[in-house]
Amino acid sequence: MSEGLEGVVAARTVLSDVDGQNGRLVIRGYALDELAGRVSFEDVAHLLFDGFFEAGPADFRPALGAARARVFAEVAALDEGLAGRDPVEAVRALVARLPDGDDLATALALVAAPAVFTPAVLRVRAGLAPVAPDPALSHAADVLRMLRGAPASDAEAEALDTYLVTVCDHGLNASTFAARVVASTWAGLTSSVLAGLSALKGPLHGGAPGPVIEMLDAIGTAANARPWIETALDRGDRLMGFGHRIYRVRDPRADALKRAVRRLAETTNTAPGRLALAEGVEAAALAILRQRKPDRPLDTNVEFYTALLLEALGLPPAAFTCVFAMGRVAGWIAHAREQRLGGKLIRPQSVYVGPLPRAAA
Ligand code: ACO
Repeated sequence: MSEGLEGVVAARTVLSDVDGQNGRLVIRGYALDELAGRVSFEDVAHLLFDGFFEAGPADFRPALGAARARVFAEVAALDEGLAGRDPVEAVRALVARLPDGDDLATALALVAAPAVFTPAVLRVRAGLAPVAPDPALSHAADVLRMLRGAPASDAEAEALDTYLVTVCDHGLNASTFAARVVASTWAGLTSSVLAGLSALKGPLHGGAPGPVIEMLDAIGTAANARPWIETALDRGDRLMGFGHRIYRVRDPRADALKRAVRRLAETTNTAPGRLALAEGVEAAALAILRQRKPDRPLDTNVEFYTALLLEALGLPPAAFTCVFAMGRVAGWIAHAREQRLGGKLIRPQSVYVGPLPRAAA
């Protein structure tokens, strides 16, 4: 038995490869650096879907734009009570309104869903009316426009696009595994995406970037980083944004996102002091973790610079996990289709350690 299925190989995939020893991520034959900041989210979603549906659209971008416009109808079901819940719960409730299915139309609606529902939830929470999608825009530019009610700059749209590409797929992580388990029962893509979203919510997976912001705010200055971190670790806390099940070296996505934050700061003058603080906290955290856990390499993961990038784009920490889902949903769907087309029912066994029945008198 392997606790947490650590080291267990549970699927064969053509979608992505996470090389934890060398810090390398490959997505359908491309290294992450060949994709992040170079191709659009629409291109990478198209790449992930290739071969998993009977007929793909000739041009993915307008098809996804039309899907955004279609799913916006569900926003009518968003009342203040639902919008007041954790944004992941509100978005999940709206996604659950979409019918199950295994075809491309269902897949496009599911890719569109978190991108349309998240801005609507945030606006209703703020007492504002939701903004309808503009199918002519890129996915990333439209998300920021729906959020703000005004167009974003090219630099901001590019930064969000880079983020969505960076997180689109990542081997058999917890949410993708959850999506594949559901797909293995032939339940349908909406069911798989709901499973993925639910697994992503937890702070050990996609829920970490919000707490990264809380940590940076609590630390305040680079000089305070060491004492704050030492105290947190003495208390038994984990440092959010550090450590990974597979990577034993730095998560390559952290560097892709750090570059994107830096580019955004240069072109938009967004919080340069914040980046310096984050770098100070990162350096202190890595030094202390190395000292305290010499046998367990713990390095920066994707969530640390995710927090900085999404904050610089004006997104509230409460919505960070939903924005992660906007990118990862493409991976969940491709994995669910791969599982459905070539996989077997996923049904492991457990070891019973409870009491045995008493022998019948
Ligand atoms: N801070 C402090 N200590 C840590 C951290 C951390 N971030 N991560 C692991 N450790 C310690 C554990 O306490 C444990 O110590 P012990 O052996 O003395 O008990 C040891 O390192 C091994 O930890 P495990 O929990 O066995 O490692 P696992 O592979 O299960 O955990 C995980 C990976 C969950 C990501 C973990 O590193 C963590 O909790 N990180 C913080 C949360 C986080 O950043 N999550 C986002 C991950 S990226 C993603 O999913 C998109």
